[in-house]
Amino acid sequence: MSANVYPVPDDIAKNALIDKSKYDAMYKQSIEDPEGFWGEHGKRIDWIKPYSTVKNVSYDANDLYIKWYEDGTLNVSANCLDRHLEKRGDQTAIIFEGDDPSVSEYITYRDLHERTCRFANALKSMGVGKGDRVVIYLPMIPEASVAMLACARIGAIHSIVFGGFSPEALAGRVEDCGAKVVITSDEGLRGGRAVPLKRNADEALSHPGVKSVEKLVVVKRTGKDVAWNDARDVWYHEACAAASPDCPPTEVNAEDPLFVLYTSGSTGKPKGVLHTSGGYLVYASMTHEYVFDYHDGDIYWCTADVGWVTGHSYIVYGPLANGATTLMFEGVPSYPDASRFWQVCEKHKVNIFYTAPTAIRALMREGESWVKKADLSSLRILGSVGEPINPEAWEWYYEHVGNRNCPIVDTWWQTETGGILISPLPGATDLKPGSATLPFFGIEPGLLDNEGNELTGATDGNLVIKDSWPGQMRTVYGDHERFIQTYFSTFANAYTTGDGARRDDDGYYWITGRVDDVINVSGHRMGTAEVESALVAHPKVAEAAVVGVPHDIKGQGIYAYVTLNADEEPTEELRVELVKWVRKEIGPIASPDYLQWSPGLPKTRSGKIMRRILRKIAANEYDQLGDTSTLADPGVVDDLIDNRQNR
Ligand code: WT7
Repeated sequence: MSANVYPVPDDIAKNALIDKSKYDAMYKQSIEDPEGFWGEHGKRIDWIKPYSTVKNVSYDANDLYIKWYEDGTLNVSANCLDRHLEKRGDQTAIIFEGDDPSVSEYITYRDLHERTCRFANALKSMGVGKGDRVVIYLPMIPEASVAMLACARIGAIHSIVFGGFSPEALAGRVEDCGAKVVITSDEGLRGGRAVPLKRNADEALSHPGVKSVEKLVVVKRTGKDVAWNDARDVWYHEACAAASPDCPPTEVNAEDPLFVLYTSGSTGKPKGVLHTSGGYLVYASMTHEYVFDYHDGDIYWCTADVGWVTGHSYIVYGPLANGATTLMFEGVPSYPDASRFWQVCEKHKVNIFYTAPTAIRALMREGESWVKKADLSSLRILGSVGEPINPEAWEWYYEHVGNRNCPIVDTWWQTETGGILISPLPGATDLKPGSATLPFFGIEPGLLDNEGNELTGATDGNLVIKDSWPGQMRTVYGDHERFIQTYFSTFANAYTTGDGARRDDDGYYWITGRVDDVINVSGHRMGTAEVESALVAHPKVAEAAVVGVPHDIKGQGIYAYVTLNADEEPTEELRVELVKWVRKEIGPIASPDYLQWSPGLPKTRSGKIMRRILRKIAANEYDQLGDTSTLADPGVVDDLIDNRQNR
């Protein structure tokens, strides 16, 4: 834990939207009078019918409900587009920076509005209406934002599936949400390499379980020839050309769903996290403005993919609701070379830059010379998200990218939370490298011991949030019971985050990582159970156990222990085949970094796998295994130690 403290720079404090005393006063009001606070700040967005109630929440697992602004009505796309047209119709809404550095495009609010209206009408003509589900499986191109906003315009629920996911993973999500329409492109382009998205979509839609899809809309991105099903497939450009540019926004209730986004849990298949319209937009836009200290005219760049929640809240909805200029980047940090991020910052004079620790660590390894090649003097605020940032990477980011005068906001949040919950505010919070620092307005964190007792003062514990905030998820799509079980039954009357945290003497929070069987690979969440079930689906595999292992660049890597069927030989070819198999079943981000043959797994007498032991062996900490006396066969441990893969 770093002892360094970085005070708020004077010029930042002077011009910031929120300074120390404002933070204290607003935070106090937000906790003491949430109704008054959120009643006032709910007005930051436009309502068709204003709300008369603000908060209606019960965290009682036996009678759980979460409602914000429940009698208000609005349209999310009108908030992101129409309301800006008069003042900033000609302002750039989206800067598109292509994978190829010679490709960029500036899309004004007026243009984005027209594109959205056309595509919304096209969706309508395909029979999509309020409450219908639309799956978006696109690369990082402007059409992804248009598709999101078009769904929002007609009250349809979008569900984005990250373009790096496999046909299998796509099929599972399409089936779970019962999508009527899927939107993809001929190919994606990342780091100069084509990704066959249309082919993947074709394969996904041919799965026997996928029965709901009527149309597959295809954006032409690379122009590559693709297979075509005349009865089902529609070109995006043709559908838009045929559609009217006039599409009045559909009035929806604050609590009507805006999107479903699948994320991994500690057990079972990925769950569809459902977010609603009013509270989500209030929270996403307010956090975007204050956490990044967004001022009119700033150029803002979040490097995430729209396939993750960060892209939803902080590339599209938050920034556009605020009338910001948001940059969308199609490529990767290492292409054409390791200076790409910094070249893009220089080219578009980026003021606010938000990325993930894994990217910083990877670029740090390439050395500062790549950073020095670019003029980064436009930068004012830096951000980090997705996993704990190690102090060494923090210091490097601060010194070499920020030139020691840009505050770093280390933002802690989750797919489920809709927006940032714990983070510094640039003008208000002194920084400590590695700490997400203090709660945002309205957020009341608590640390509990395993029995659910609240701990006070400087301590370690299970991180919970003691009361609701408007951006919170409302249910697991199609499985409300799972929502209650996962988030509200471990501890009474609190939202369980699944993370552990430490609070220091200044009340700063330090996230220590997941306390459940979820691992975080390059800021992407992966359930160990998902990787295990992919492995055991292979005909030669009898059993598998997967754990996270410390990894220099990715934060955590995936370590798999595999038991083969009795008559199978553990060969090098089979090892390679199994790694490929997992890539195919889930996607490249789930590829095991290590795969160890394990004739036996350490189990208790009741048959439960003791993952604590497997984690220690994977981390090379086998001298600290702890108590192994409850194992059914303590002998398996020695064999596992002798054959570990990352010595
Ligand atoms: C998990 C949520 C939030 C959008 C991206 C990931 C970890 C996230 C931080 C941070 C330490 C972090 C937590 C959390 N995490 N941000 N700043 N410091 N840990 O969303 O896929 O839902 O993952 O990511 O463990 O629970 P997600």
